[in-house]
Amino acid sequence: MNDRVYIFDTTLRDGEQSPGCSMTVPEKVQMAHQLVELGVDYLEAGFPIASEGDFQAVDAVSREFPSVRVAALARACTMDVERAARALEHAKRPRIHTFIATSDIHLKHKLHKSREQVLAQAVAAVELSRRYAEDVEFSAEDATRTDPAFLEEISKAVVAAGANTVNLPDTVGYSVPVEFGEFIGRVARALGDTAIVSVHCHNDLGLATANSLAGVLAGARQIECTINGIGERAGNCALEEAVMAIKTRQDMLPFDTGVATEHLYPASQLLASLIAFGPQPNKAIVGGNAFAHEAGIHQDGYLKERSTYEIMDPRSVGVPESRLILGKHSGRHALNQRCASLGYTLSKAELDGVYERFITLADRKKGVLNEEIVAILEERLADAAAAE
Ligand code: KIV
Ligand code: ZN
Repeated sequence: MNDRVYIFDTTLRDGEQSPGCSMTVPEKVQMAHQLVELGVDYLEAGFPIASEGDFQAVDAVSREFPSVRVAALARACTMDVERAARALEHAKRPRIHTFIATSDIHLKHKLHKSREQVLAQAVAAVELSRRYAEDVEFSAEDATRTDPAFLEEISKAVVAAGANTVNLPDTVGYSVPVEFGEFIGRVARALGDTAIVSVHCHNDLGLATANSLAGVLAGARQIECTINGIGERAGNCALEEAVMAIKTRQDMLPFDTGVATEHLYPASQLLASLIAFGPQPNKAIVGGNAFAHEAGIHQDGYLKERSTYEIMDPRSVGVPESRLILGKHSGRHALNQRCASLGYTLSKAELDGVYERFITLADRKKGVLNEEIVAILEERLADAAAAE
């Protein structure tokens, strides 16, 4: 049996805290419904100390979804932990997620604290969290720029204090996959089976998903991620990418997630309708072009056998069907198929004539619509009838 990788969704927390992504409490609850359908293991619903809205969101999600493990974020201090605990009061399976920065750059310029002080604060926050919840996650913010020896020391200390998950964020999206894998491997070996190691990668260099998967290969068993990859700056690891990479490449990534992948596209679409933007058209898995084919050679191959140009069945992620885009790169085969689907069966000579007019039009436009194809067909067929 494959190892299970837990999916920790932070769309409603890290995702929501980025520009254009804020959601009201009812919107968060609506999105949570979809995330529960999707089968995420953990749902981080907010950062209760940050705002009344975040507190209410954690509370509402906790009350409404007893089946899912709900997480709330808290800095490593009493005030935050107690606020998170209060927001989680009605959760059946609460997780307090407490964090503090561990890199020297953050210690010196942001926290003005020594390593000893940070370690003591982390341990105290975990101990306090354990008074309220059995499930406690500790995150070492800016872990990838932290001295590895100190990271190992603090990781062991928080586990001894009661944390059952240690999350190692690439907070500034600085790491590259080979390096990140080695980095995760070191902590995973040091912790053995005393805790789950988790990855939380930002996408500043476009490597968030690659780094997350390298982390899993090195021993991490939780991925923190968001729908459509939303999140601070360039975003977080996209949930749909990590999950579909694991599902599609079982030969290289022999792991299981509990995600019902046919809900990925609906989740992406719902999120897009709640926030200010949707995924870019060429976004992997959920972008408008992710299953669209325009080049004639591709369309021809695809029409002969789908697997020539498609590694995933669009229906497996909830996209109704692949799209053949009719444009200037399309060939006769794709045009003929579209004409047939519009109810026109053409002889070879008719298809040649229609194709000629189609290409003239396509050369001037970004894509040709079905109505325009019908207009060409009708015109062409009328010409042919007049000539008889
Ligand atoms: O990016 C980060 O370091 C975070 C932590 C709070 C987990 O979001
Ligand atoms: Zn983050």
